[in-house]
Amino acid sequence: MEPKNITSKPFTDQRPGTSGLRKKVAVFQEPHYLENFVQSTFNALDGVQGKKIAVGGDGRFYNLNALQTIIRMAAANGVKKILIGQNGILSTPAASCIIRKYKLDGGFILSASHNPGGPQGDFGIKFNSANGGPAPEKLTEKIFQESLTCEGYLTTDSPDIDLSQPATLELGPMQVEIFDPVKDYADLMAEIFDFDLIAKLLQNPKFNFCFDAMHAVTGPYAQEIFVKRLGAPAKSLLNCTPKPDFGGGHPDPNLKYAEDLVKVMFADNAPIFGAASDGDGDRNMVLGGNFFVNPSDSVALIAANAHLIKGYKNGIKGVARSMPTSCALDAVAQALNIECFETPTGWKFFGNLLDAGRLSICGEESFGTSSDHLREKDGLWAVLFWLNLIALKKMSVKEIVNEHWQRFGRNYYSRHDYEEVDSKIAKQIVNRLRERFTELKGCKFGPLEITQADDFSYLDPIDGELSENQGLRLLFKDKSRIILRLSGTGTSGATLRLYFEKVEEEKAKMNLDAQVALTPLITLAEDLTNLKKLTGRSEPTVIT
Ligand code: G1P
Ligand code: ZN
Repeated sequence: MEPKNITSKPFTDQRPGTSGLRKKVAVFQEPHYLENFVQSTFNALDGVQGKKIAVGGDGRFYNLNALQTIIRMAAANGVKKILIGQNGILSTPAASCIIRKYKLDGGFILSASHNPGGPQGDFGIKFNSANGGPAPEKLTEKIFQESLTCEGYLTTDSPDIDLSQPATLELGPMQVEIFDPVKDYADLMAEIFDFDLIAKLLQNPKFNFCFDAMHAVTGPYAQEIFVKRLGAPAKSLLNCTPKPDFGGGHPDPNLKYAEDLVKVMFADNAPIFGAASDGDGDRNMVLGGNFFVNPSDSVALIAANAHLIKGYKNGIKGVARSMPTSCALDAVAQALNIECFETPTGWKFFGNLLDAGRLSICGEESFGTSSDHLREKDGLWAVLFWLNLIALKKMSVKEIVNEHWQRFGRNYYSRHDYEEVDSKIAKQIVNRLRERFTELKGCKFGPLEITQADDFSYLDPIDGELSENQGLRLLFKDKSRIILRLSGTGTSGATLRLYFEKVEEEKAKMNLDAQVALTPLITLAEDLTNLKKLTGRSEPTVIT
């Protein structure tokens, strides 16, 4: 195995977004595109000579090609050992688990998360550091700078490696280990949750549940955990065979895209509990029979009940949420008298706080929840948490959520996404609202009074890094919020996200439909931005 130096030209569009580099498959198929990014990552790490890394992905189209490329490049760059999920499979949380458990120097996750797959779809790659978490901004920026001057990469002529069976082999001086991607993760879940109790619940013929893997990576994990270890009937699982194009769907667990699950859970005689996960297994949607749990409520409720669960029985240290996530979590932190951090969008911002032992539970409104057991959000962890809680409380999902609202108040919450908007128009909408900040402060619109209008910035309390321009906020006297930001994960045009929140403390007013309760804020946002008019849209692409 002789390392070969291949000459290439730098690409100018390899700046990682909210979660790694995501592009259309066709872009990654361009000669040298993936290779340059991988080499730039190696260079940004000051080389990978003698290091140990993991690699795996969500099984989407191009996953296996990219894996073989990375294996060859790792060998040529002097990696000592590479761990690869069998068949190239590794969910994002399982990758985080493996990196931490085997004290690796990091790993590549090949995924574009919830974005569609297939030859016409998206592909993505992200690097996670030795703590198991997404590369922090400092590193992603360094990777980008490297990519701007990357004029070649090291690889070999070695043939493809058979990834279909667990094995240990050698590629030149590099050790290659192909391992079962499910076992270590499932073992970790068994340490955190009361599997005996959950097994009793899942095997009780009166309890029925439904899990939808959306043809994506959590399929094999769900088979192992729910069916094999917990004894749930196999028919509880939907779409659990990963497909390179996710069955032509959008592997995003929300009310619009998780159609199969929604059909089951909003039918007569719906199961008691339903859940779905996304392309790479880090997101989760939780449903009761005819009942949707808002992810912002889910993370708050998880924090409030964590002490009941084996893995958190000594209580939790602190909590964190991304800025657009509702303040339901803040109310819990206040009651528990623990710290609550507000970070920019993206899981990478939780890493430092988790490593410093400042927080135990964190989450985002975008169907992401997790804890300090990993450094990624974790879809199945959230599902198991809910199952453990239901088994303990012997209440329905709706009853558990209602009990929570009665205790902490309800934060009505919704996100409206406008996808594939013309990038120029999207930027114009954001800029125009930003320009009006001074004028808007103190303005009253009926009962709504704006007390603060700003562009969110975050000073990391651990490393002192400042992250600016993280989303426009209109904060109101009654604690309502309107937030506007541009997505950092889309691959075509721009996605505008509008977030609405209204706090309700009156117990009798907690059962409205969220869209109804938020109507005054939704109307005001349109008045202030002219978003619908400027984009020519009559309604959002997705409402969650
Ligand atoms: C979106 C979500 C964000 C999440 C990210 C990766 O990013 O909003 O919370 O961390 O996907 O799953 P965005 O497209 O908004 O930049
Ligand atoms: Zn994801």
